Amino acid sequence: MKVVILEDAEAVAKYGAAIFVKQIQKKPSSVLGLATGSTPVALYNELIKKYQSNQLSFSQVKSFNLDEYLGISGDHPQSYRHFMNEKLFKHIDINKKNTAVPSGDAKHPLDACEEYEQMIKNSGGIDVQLLGIGRNGHIGFNEPSSSLGSRTRVKTLTQETIDDNARFFAENESQPHLSITMGIGTILEAKQVVLLATGENKAQAIVDTVQGYITAQCPASALQFHANAVIIIDEAAASLLKNREFFRHIERENQKLEKSLGL
Ligand code: PGA
Repeated sequence: MKVVILEDAEAVAKYGAAIFVKQIQKKPSSVLGLATGSTPVALYNELIKKYQSNQLSFSQVKSFNLDEYLGISGDHPQSYRHFMNEKLFKHIDINKKNTAVPSGDAKHPLDACEEYEQMIKNSGGIDVQLLGIGRNGHIGFNEPSSSLGSRTRVKTLTQETIDDNARFFAENESQPHLSITMGIGTILEAKQVVLLATGENKAQAIVDTVQGYITAQCPASALQFHANAVIIIDEAAASLLKNREFFRHIERENQKLEKSLGL
């Protein structure tokens, strides 16, 4: 697992965006795994800038989002479909038909989960999956105790996650307690995984992910199994890691190697 510690949230977004830019430039028909939440927004802004300055096209890109609330439709302002349209899709040249978000209003949610898995398979699999992380170590809506082999399914949200996301809902608005989320097994099949975290409130989840035991109690710790996972964090999110200097040293060496190989 590669751990990159950077000065601040802006540097995290730029570093993460550069991975996506490289991927799309190498393979214009890349399949991207996308995420919602506050953290990815700055990365999306970087990608939008690249598109607007004609350095990048998403015209052949396909995308799959990690998760969606169950019980609300895609035009609900708090739906993750709406979030993606507003924060990314409407600003770039991606074909909306090539963007998939689980259906929060599916008549048959269990069938919808299986179909989502099948769609990912039919696309050839996800090239790069973007992840945020919850304070409780969740990835997507895979809350603590999620099976490490889980596939796309209906998942009950923890009270902690509901509370964390309450800020997006109006005071008396009913807030979903269920979701459809890619499973941890689904995420682990992405060819590359890029997890971003910033701020001190993510520090415990990050140390559990990187230096803790692999356990369903910290779903992101499953990334220790992944052959190509990069954890990009700011100083605050890194603050509980042991051997921070070692991670910095590795990154400097990697940069030198990449430069010498012209990568
Ligand atoms: P955040 O959410 O980026 O808004 O902190 C991350 C997550 O819950 O996955």
